[in-house]
Amino acid sequence: MLIMAIPIKTREEIRIIREACKRASQIMEALQEKITPGIDTYTLDEFAEKMISKLKAQPAFKGYRGYPKTICTSINQEVVHGIPSKGRILKEGDILSIDLGVKFRGYYGDIAATFAVGKISQEAKKLISTTREALYAGISQAYAGNNLGDISYAIMSCVEERGLSVVRRFVGHGIGRQLHEEPEIPNFGFPGQGPELKAGMVLAIEPMVNAGDYEVEILPDGWTAVTKDGKLSAHFEHTILITNKDPEILTEFNYG
Ligand code: MF3
Ligand code: CO
Repeated sequence: MLIMAIPIKTREEIRIIREACKRASQIMEALQEKITPGIDTYTLDEFAEKMISKLKAQPAFKGYRGYPKTICTSINQEVVHGIPSKGRILKEGDILSIDLGVKFRGYYGDIAATFAVGKISQEAKKLISTTREALYAGISQAYAGNNLGDISYAIMSCVEERGLSVVRRFVGHGIGRQLHEEPEIPNFGFPGQGPELKAGMVLAIEPMVNAGDYEVEILPDGWTAVTKDGKLSAHFEHTILITNKDPEILTEFNYG
């Protein structure tokens, strides 16, 4: 088996990635303010694209493997990679996952969060809070000397203890010079397994959690992933830095 080459970032690279991530967080915070019944996902995308260029950065997703938009907007049973569009209007009770990648001076930052549209059900609230908790449970294992599997296992346990399921089909990833670098970061696994974490690694950890079964399928648009059973799904993502002390969350923002 090949030893995986997980890039260790220099101080200078980290400085730029931090700037990319700061922009991603600012945009996510601004998008959060816009989420209300009646707005369409096209408008959110347009806003994000304008703000990215104001911040002297570029969309990371637009053109990536042919993806047509700046953000991904996934509503209710949509898991990830929903494409913003004009007819797609948010309504009271929906949950909306927004995923946003920013490129700044050649380096990437990646962030995602799920938001309530107006008043939502107890089931939806539990799904969202569990997914967010699972992300932070994963981050709490992101220490130099731990293994990647410690992160994966912490996420999976947090979710499964609450009777929800983690999506298997999509994973988190290393990030920096490229949007997707080594290693892949599954949201399921075993403690003590996988590569050892080292200071200077930058990781995008992104649990996707389903209220029902973990199975997903892709819609005919070639992008939108939905739950097979039609139940709700949520998604949170932070780009983090492994240090010799506590993990640094590079995409932290004021959520809620
Ligand atoms: N955050 C996701 C990821 O890390 C979204 C990228 S998919 C794209 O893969 F195609 F829209 F870019
Ligand atoms: Co990502």
